[in-house]
Amino acid sequence: MRHPERAFFKGLGAAAPNKVLSNHDIEKLVDTSDEWIRTRTGIERRHVADDDSNTLTLATEAGRKALLDAGVEPEEVDMIILGTLTPYIGFPATACLVQNALGARNAAAVDINAACSGFVYGLHLAQGLIRSGANRNVLLIGAETMSRIVNWKDRNTCVLFGDAAGAALLAPGSGREDSAGVLGTYIRSDGVQPEMLCRIAGGTRPVATEEENYLQMSGKDVFKRAVTAMGDAAELILRQTGFSGEDVTLLIPHQANMRIIEATARRVNIPMEKVLVNIQEYGNTSAATIPVAMAEAKASGRMRSGDLVLMVAFGAGMTWGAALARM
Ligand code: UT7
Repeated sequence: MRHPERAFFKGLGAAAPNKVLSNHDIEKLVDTSDEWIRTRTGIERRHVADDDSNTLTLATEAGRKALLDAGVEPEEVDMIILGTLTPYIGFPATACLVQNALGARNAAAVDINAACSGFVYGLHLAQGLIRSGANRNVLLIGAETMSRIVNWKDRNTCVLFGDAAGAALLAPGSGREDSAGVLGTYIRSDGVQPEMLCRIAGGTRPVATEEENYLQMSGKDVFKRAVTAMGDAAELILRQTGFSGEDVTLLIPHQANMRIIEATARRVNIPMEKVLVNIQEYGNTSAATIPVAMAEAKASGRMRSGDLVLMVAFGAGMTWGAALARM
Protein backbone atom coordinates (compact mmCIF):
# COMPACT_ATOMS: atom_id res chain seq x y z
CA MET A 1 0.00 0.00 0.00
CA ARG A 2 1.20 3.51 -0.80
CA HIS A 3 2.28 5.42 2.30
CA PRO A 4 -0.01 8.41 3.00
CA GLU A 5 1.69 11.60 1.89
CA ARG A 6 2.98 14.12 4.38
CA ALA A 7 2.17 17.82 4.42
CA PHE A 8 4.95 19.58 2.53
CA PHE A 9 5.85 23.28 2.81
CA LYS A 10 5.22 24.37 -0.77
CA GLY A 11 5.08 28.13 -0.26
CA LEU A 12 5.67 30.73 2.46
CA GLY A 13 4.77 34.38 2.90
CA ALA A 14 4.89 37.10 5.55
CA ALA A 15 3.54 40.58 6.16
CA ALA A 16 4.07 43.27 8.79
CA PRO A 17 2.75 46.80 9.19
CA ASN A 18 5.07 49.58 7.96
CA LYS A 19 4.85 51.48 11.22
CA VAL A 20 7.71 50.64 13.61
CA LEU A 21 8.00 51.44 17.32
CA SER A 22 11.56 51.30 18.67
CA ASN A 23 12.40 50.75 22.31
CA HIS A 24 13.28 54.44 22.45
CA ASP A 25 9.77 55.31 21.21
CA ILE A 26 8.32 53.20 24.05
CA GLU A 27 10.54 55.04 26.57
CA LYS A 28 8.24 58.02 25.88
CA LEU A 29 5.11 56.00 26.80
CA VAL A 30 6.09 54.08 29.95
CA ASP A 31 8.87 54.02 32.54
CA THR A 32 11.25 51.69 30.72
CA SER A 33 14.59 51.79 28.88
CA ASP A 34 16.03 50.44 25.68
CA GLU A 35 18.72 48.81 27.83
CA TRP A 36 16.16 46.93 30.00
CA ILE A 37 14.11 45.72 27.05
CA ARG A 38 17.12 44.58 25.00
CA THR A 39 18.90 42.78 27.83
CA ARG A 40 15.79 41.16 29.40
CA THR A 41 14.04 40.18 26.13
CA GLY A 42 16.23 40.71 23.03
CA ILE A 43 13.63 43.01 21.47
CA GLU A 44 14.80 46.23 19.76
CA ARG A 45 11.67 47.29 17.87
CA ARG A 46 8.27 45.98 16.83
CA HIS A 47 5.88 46.62 13.92
CA VAL A 48 2.48 47.97 14.93
CA ALA A 49 -0.68 48.33 12.89
CA ASP A 50 -1.59 51.77 11.59
CA ASP A 51 -5.09 52.74 10.41
CA ASP A 52 -4.65 50.76 7.18
CA SER A 53 -3.53 47.43 8.64
CA ASN A 54 -5.18 44.86 10.87
CA THR A 55 -5.32 41.11 11.37
CA LEU A 56 -7.36 40.69 8.15
CA THR A 57 -5.13 42.77 5.87
CA LEU A 58 -1.94 41.21 7.27
CA ALA A 59 -3.30 37.66 7.00
CA THR A 60 -4.48 38.28 3.45
CA GLU A 61 -1.12 39.71 2.35
CA ALA A 62 0.84 36.84 3.92
CA GLY A 63 -1.58 34.29 2.43
CA ARG A 64 -1.34 35.81 -1.05
CA LYS A 65 2.47 35.72 -0.90
CA ALA A 66 2.46 32.07 0.23
CA LEU A 67 0.20 31.12 -2.71
CA LEU A 68 2.47 32.96 -5.16
CA ASP A 69 5.56 31.29 -3.68
CA ALA A 70 3.86 27.89 -4.02
CA GLY A 71 2.53 28.54 -7.53
CA VAL A 72 -0.97 27.60 -6.32
CA GLU A 73 -4.08 29.49 -7.47
CA PRO A 74 -6.55 30.72 -4.81
CA GLU A 75 -9.26 28.46 -6.34
CA GLU A 76 -7.07 25.41 -5.68
CA VAL A 77 -7.00 25.98 -1.90
CA ASP A 78 -9.44 23.64 -0.15
CA MET A 79 -8.80 24.59 3.49
CA ILE A 80 -7.77 27.80 5.25
CA ILE A 81 -6.75 27.54 8.91
CA LEU A 82 -6.00 30.83 10.62
CA GLY A 83 -4.37 30.88 14.06
CA THR A 84 -5.13 34.08 15.94
CA LEU A 85 -6.09 35.44 19.34
CA THR A 86 -6.75 38.87 17.84
CA PRO A 87 -9.40 38.21 15.15
CA TYR A 88 -10.50 41.13 12.98
CA ILE A 89 -14.08 40.98 14.30
CA GLY A 90 -15.91 38.88 16.92
CA PHE A 91 -17.38 36.62 14.25
CA PRO A 92 -17.51 35.29 11.57
CA ALA A 93 -14.05 33.80 11.53
CA THR A 94 -11.30 36.00 10.09
CA ALA A 95 -10.38 32.96 7.95
CA CYS A 96 -13.68 33.39 6.06
CA LEU A 97 -12.89 37.06 5.41
CA VAL A 98 -9.41 36.09 4.18
CA GLN A 99 -10.99 33.45 1.94
CA ASN A 100 -13.14 36.14 0.35
CA ALA A 101 -10.25 38.60 0.00
CA LEU A 102 -8.09 35.96 -1.70
CA GLY A 103 -10.84 34.61 -3.93
CA ALA A 104 -10.31 31.11 -2.52
CA ARG A 105 -13.91 30.20 -3.36
CA ASN A 106 -13.46 26.41 -3.15
CA ALA A 107 -12.09 26.40 0.39
CA ALA A 108 -13.46 25.76 3.85
CA ALA A 109 -12.17 28.32 6.34
CA VAL A 110 -11.82 28.31 10.11
CA ASP A 111 -10.02 30.20 12.89
CA ILE A 112 -8.22 28.40 15.70
CA ASN A 113 -7.13 30.01 18.95
CA ALA A 114 -4.12 28.31 20.46
CA ALA A 115 -2.50 31.67 21.23
CA CYS A 116 1.26 31.71 20.52
CA SER A 117 1.16 27.99 19.66
CA GLY A 118 -1.38 28.60 16.87
CA PHE A 119 0.97 27.82 13.99
CA VAL A 120 2.24 24.55 15.48
CA TYR A 121 -1.32 23.53 16.39
CA GLY A 122 -2.42 24.40 12.83
CA LEU A 123 0.43 22.36 11.40
CA HIS A 124 -0.72 19.35 13.43
CA LEU A 125 -4.24 19.75 11.99
CA ALA A 126 -3.02 20.36 8.43
CA GLN A 127 -0.83 17.25 8.58
CA GLY A 128 -3.84 15.18 9.68
CA LEU A 129 -6.08 16.59 6.96
CA ILE A 130 -3.51 16.05 4.22
CA ARG A 131 -2.44 12.56 5.36
CA SER A 132 -6.06 11.42 5.58
CA GLY A 133 -6.69 12.65 2.04
CA ALA A 134 -9.45 15.02 3.23
CA ASN A 135 -7.63 18.10 1.89
CA ARG A 136 -4.88 18.78 -0.65
CA ASN A 137 -3.97 22.48 -0.48
CA VAL A 138 -4.11 23.81 3.06
CA LEU A 139 -3.32 27.50 3.62
CA LEU A 140 -2.13 27.84 7.21
CA ILE A 141 -1.86 31.39 8.52
CA GLY A 142 -0.76 32.89 11.83
CA ALA A 143 -1.86 36.52 12.10
CA GLU A 144 -2.03 38.95 15.01
CA THR A 145 -2.59 42.57 15.91
CA MET A 146 -1.33 42.39 19.49
CA SER A 147 -0.94 46.18 19.64
CA ARG A 148 -4.76 46.45 19.84
CA ILE A 149 -5.04 44.37 23.04
CA VAL A 150 -1.99 45.38 25.07
CA ASN A 151 -2.23 48.07 27.73
CA TRP A 152 0.07 50.82 26.51
CA LYS A 153 0.37 52.04 30.12
CA ASP A 154 1.68 48.70 31.45
CA ARG A 155 5.45 48.39 31.05
CA ASN A 156 5.33 44.71 32.06
CA THR A 157 3.56 43.77 28.82
CA CYS A 158 3.44 46.58 26.23
CA VAL A 159 7.16 46.37 25.44
CA LEU A 160 6.91 42.69 24.48
CA PHE A 161 4.43 42.39 21.61
CA GLY A 162 4.08 43.32 17.94
CA ASP A 163 1.88 42.81 14.88
CA ALA A 164 2.52 40.58 11.85
CA ALA A 165 1.27 37.62 9.83
CA GLY A 166 2.93 34.60 8.28
CA ALA A 167 1.49 31.91 6.04
CA ALA A 168 2.38 28.50 4.63
CA LEU A 169 0.79 26.65 1.74
CA LEU A 170 0.94 22.97 2.67
CA ALA A 171 0.32 20.26 0.08
CA PRO A 172 0.89 16.49 -0.19
CA GLY A 173 4.42 15.33 -0.97
CA SER A 174 7.18 17.41 -2.51
CA GLY A 175 7.44 15.88 -5.95
CA ARG A 176 11.15 15.77 -5.07
CA GLU A 177 11.78 12.99 -2.61
CA ASP A 178 9.79 10.79 -0.24
CA SER A 179 11.55 11.98 2.89
CA ALA A 180 10.33 15.59 2.57
CA GLY A 181 7.44 17.14 4.48
CA VAL A 182 6.24 17.25 8.07
CA LEU A 183 7.88 14.30 9.85
CA GLY A 184 6.10 14.70 13.16
CA THR A 185 4.02 17.03 15.31
CA TYR A 186 3.34 17.12 19.04
CA ILE A 187 0.86 19.40 20.80
CA ARG A 188 -0.30 19.71 24.39
CA SER A 189 -2.29 22.05 26.61
CA ASP A 190 -2.91 22.64 30.30
CA GLY A 191 -5.90 24.79 31.27
CA VAL A 192 -5.32 24.70 35.02
CA GLN A 193 -4.18 28.34 35.31
CA PRO A 194 -5.67 30.32 32.41
CA GLU A 195 -5.12 33.59 34.30
CA MET A 196 -1.33 33.24 33.92
CA LEU A 197 -1.70 34.77 30.45
CA CYS A 198 -5.13 35.95 29.35
CA ARG A 199 -7.47 38.67 28.19
CA ILE A 200 -10.94 38.54 29.74
CA ALA A 201 -12.57 41.04 27.35
CA GLY A 202 -13.45 39.97 23.83
CA GLY A 203 -15.68 37.09 24.87
CA THR A 204 -19.12 37.09 26.47
CA ARG A 205 -18.08 37.22 30.13
CA PRO A 206 -18.78 40.69 31.56
CA VAL A 207 -15.65 42.78 32.08
CA ALA A 208 -15.27 43.70 35.78
CA THR A 209 -12.13 45.86 35.84
CA GLU A 210 -10.26 48.19 33.50
CA GLU A 211 -7.32 45.73 33.39
CA GLU A 212 -9.56 42.96 32.03
CA ASN A 213 -9.80 44.85 28.76
CA TYR A 214 -6.15 44.13 28.12
CA LEU A 215 -3.72 41.24 27.84
CA GLN A 216 -2.55 40.33 31.36
CA MET A 217 0.46 38.16 32.13
CA SER A 218 2.41 36.83 35.12
CA GLY A 219 5.68 37.16 33.22
CA LYS A 220 7.91 35.21 35.60
CA ASP A 221 5.50 32.23 35.82
CA VAL A 222 4.98 32.12 32.06
CA PHE A 223 8.74 32.33 31.56
CA LYS A 224 9.38 29.26 33.74
CA ARG A 225 6.60 27.22 32.13
CA ALA A 226 7.76 28.21 28.64
CA VAL A 227 11.37 27.15 29.25
CA THR A 228 10.33 23.72 30.55
CA ALA A 229 7.56 23.04 28.04
CA MET A 230 9.47 24.16 24.95
CA GLY A 231 12.53 22.14 25.95
CA ASP A 232 10.37 19.07 26.66
CA ALA A 233 8.47 19.39 23.37
CA ALA A 234 11.64 19.83 21.32
CA GLU A 235 13.27 16.82 22.97
CA LEU A 236 10.15 14.68 22.57
CA ILE A 237 9.56 15.36 18.87
CA LEU A 238 13.22 14.59 18.09
CA ARG A 239 13.00 11.32 20.02
CA GLN A 240 9.68 10.38 18.35
CA THR A 241 11.05 10.95 14.86
CA GLY A 242 14.45 9.34 15.54
CA PHE A 243 16.56 12.47 15.12
CA SER A 244 18.87 14.39 17.45
CA GLY A 245 19.72 18.07 17.85
CA GLU A 246 22.86 17.54 15.74
CA ASP A 247 20.70 16.52 12.75
CA VAL A 248 18.69 19.75 12.83
CA THR A 249 19.64 22.38 10.23
CA LEU A 250 17.50 25.15 11.69
CA LEU A 251 15.62 25.66 14.94
CA ILE A 252 12.72 28.09 14.51
CA PRO A 253 11.34 28.75 18.00
CA HIS A 254 8.48 30.98 19.05
CA GLN A 255 9.94 34.46 19.60
CA ALA A 256 8.83 35.58 23.08
CA ASN A 257 12.12 36.14 24.89
CA MET A 258 15.74 35.66 23.80
CA ARG A 259 16.50 33.88 27.09
CA ILE A 260 13.72 31.32 26.45
CA ILE A 261 15.04 30.76 22.92
CA GLU A 262 18.59 30.17 24.24
CA ALA A 263 17.37 27.78 26.93
CA THR A 264 15.37 25.77 24.37
CA ALA A 265 18.35 25.49 22.02
CA ARG A 266 20.60 24.36 24.90
CA ARG A 267 18.14 21.61 25.91
CA VAL A 268 18.47 19.91 22.50
CA ASN A 269 22.16 20.74 21.87
CA ILE A 270 21.57 23.09 18.98
CA PRO A 271 24.18 25.89 18.71
CA MET A 272 22.81 29.45 18.38
CA GLU A 273 24.22 29.69 14.80
CA LYS A 274 21.48 27.23 13.83
CA VAL A 275 18.69 29.13 15.59
CA LEU A 276 16.51 31.58 13.73
CA VAL A 277 16.06 34.75 15.77
CA ASN A 278 14.14 37.80 14.56
CA ILE A 279 12.73 38.90 17.92
CA GLN A 280 14.85 42.07 17.71
CA GLU A 281 12.78 43.25 14.73
CA TYR A 282 9.24 42.11 15.60
CA GLY A 283 8.95 41.29 19.32
CA ASN A 284 6.39 38.62 20.15
CA THR A 285 3.80 38.39 17.35
CA SER A 286 2.12 35.33 18.92
CA ALA A 287 0.85 32.87 16.25
CA ALA A 288 2.78 34.77 13.55
CA THR A 289 6.32 34.37 14.93
CA ILE A 290 7.19 30.97 13.40
CA PRO A 291 5.74 31.45 9.88
CA VAL A 292 7.21 34.98 9.62
CA ALA A 293 10.64 33.62 10.59
CA MET A 294 10.27 30.72 8.12
CA ALA A 295 9.24 33.00 5.26
CA GLU A 296 12.19 35.32 5.93
CA ALA A 297 14.60 32.38 6.18
CA LYS A 298 13.45 30.99 2.84
CA ALA A 299 13.57 34.38 1.12
CA SER A 300 17.11 35.09 2.38
CA GLY A 301 18.42 31.61 1.47
CA ARG A 302 18.99 30.68 5.14
CA MET A 303 16.43 27.84 4.82
CA ARG A 304 16.78 25.61 1.79
CA SER A 305 15.31 22.52 0.22
CA GLY A 306 16.37 19.41 2.16
CA ASP A 307 16.90 21.27 5.46
CA LEU A 308 15.64 19.63 8.66
CA VAL A 309 13.67 22.29 10.54
CA LEU A 310 12.52 22.09 14.15
CA MET A 311 9.67 24.38 15.25
CA VAL A 312 8.66 24.81 18.87
CA ALA A 313 6.14 27.10 20.56
CA PHE A 314 4.48 27.97 23.86
CA GLY A 315 1.54 30.25 24.64
CA ALA A 316 -1.56 31.11 26.60
CA GLY A 317 -3.81 28.26 27.58
CA MET A 318 -1.23 27.09 28.39
CA THR A 319 -0.58 25.53 25.00
CA TRP A 320 2.67 24.23 23.59
CA GLY A 321 4.03 21.99 20.90
CA ALA A 322 6.73 21.16 18.39
CA ALA A 323 7.03 20.01 14.81
CA LEU A 324 9.86 18.63 12.70
CA ALA A 325 9.84 19.05 8.92
CA ARG A 326 12.11 18.35 5.99
CA MET A 327 11.93 21.29 3.54
O1 UT7 B 1 4.30 34.21 24.05
C1 UT7 B 1 3.75 33.67 25.21
C2 UT7 B 1 4.75 33.47 26.19
N1 UT7 B 1 5.22 34.71 26.79
C3 UT7 B 1 6.39 34.67 27.33
O2 UT7 B 1 7.05 33.69 27.19
C4 UT7 B 1 6.86 35.83 28.20
C5 UT7 B 1 7.57 35.22 29.38
N2 UT7 B 1 8.10 36.17 30.32
C6 UT7 B 1 9.17 36.95 30.06
O3 UT7 B 1 9.66 36.98 28.95
C7 UT7 B 1 9.78 37.73 31.20
O4 UT7 B 1 9.28 37.24 32.42
C8 UT7 B 1 9.52 39.26 31.10
C9 UT7 B 1 10.34 39.84 29.95
C10 UT7 B 1 8.05 39.52 30.91
C11 UT7 B 1 9.99 39.92 32.39
O5 UT7 B 1 11.34 39.64 32.64
P1 UT7 B 1 11.83 39.20 34.09
O6 UT7 B 1 13.28 39.06 34.01
O7 UT7 B 1 11.03 38.00 34.48
O8 UT7 B 1 11.48 40.48 34.94
P2 UT7 B 1 10.49 40.60 36.19
O9 UT7 B 1 9.09 40.47 35.76
O10 UT7 B 1 10.98 39.73 37.29
O11 UT7 B 1 10.78 42.08 36.59
C12 UT7 B 1 12.07 42.48 37.07
C13 UT7 B 1 12.01 43.97 37.34
C14 UT7 B 1 10.81 44.40 38.17
O12 UT7 B 1 11.22 45.44 39.02
P3 UT7 B 1 11.45 45.14 40.59
O13 UT7 B 1 10.15 44.61 41.09
O14 UT7 B 1 12.56 44.14 40.62
O15 UT7 B 1 11.81 46.48 41.11
C15 UT7 B 1 9.87 44.96 37.14
O16 UT7 B 1 9.01 45.92 37.65
O17 UT7 B 1 11.92 44.66 36.09
C16 UT7 B 1 10.81 45.56 36.14
N3 UT7 B 1 10.25 45.70 34.82
C17 UT7 B 1 10.66 46.63 33.94
N4 UT7 B 1 11.60 47.58 34.03
C18 UT7 B 1 11.78 48.36 32.96
C19 UT7 B 1 9.28 44.95 34.25
N5 UT7 B 1 9.05 45.38 33.00
C20 UT7 B 1 9.88 46.43 32.80
C21 UT7 B 1 10.13 47.28 31.71
N6 UT7 B 1 11.07 48.23 31.83
N7 UT7 B 1 9.46 47.18 30.55
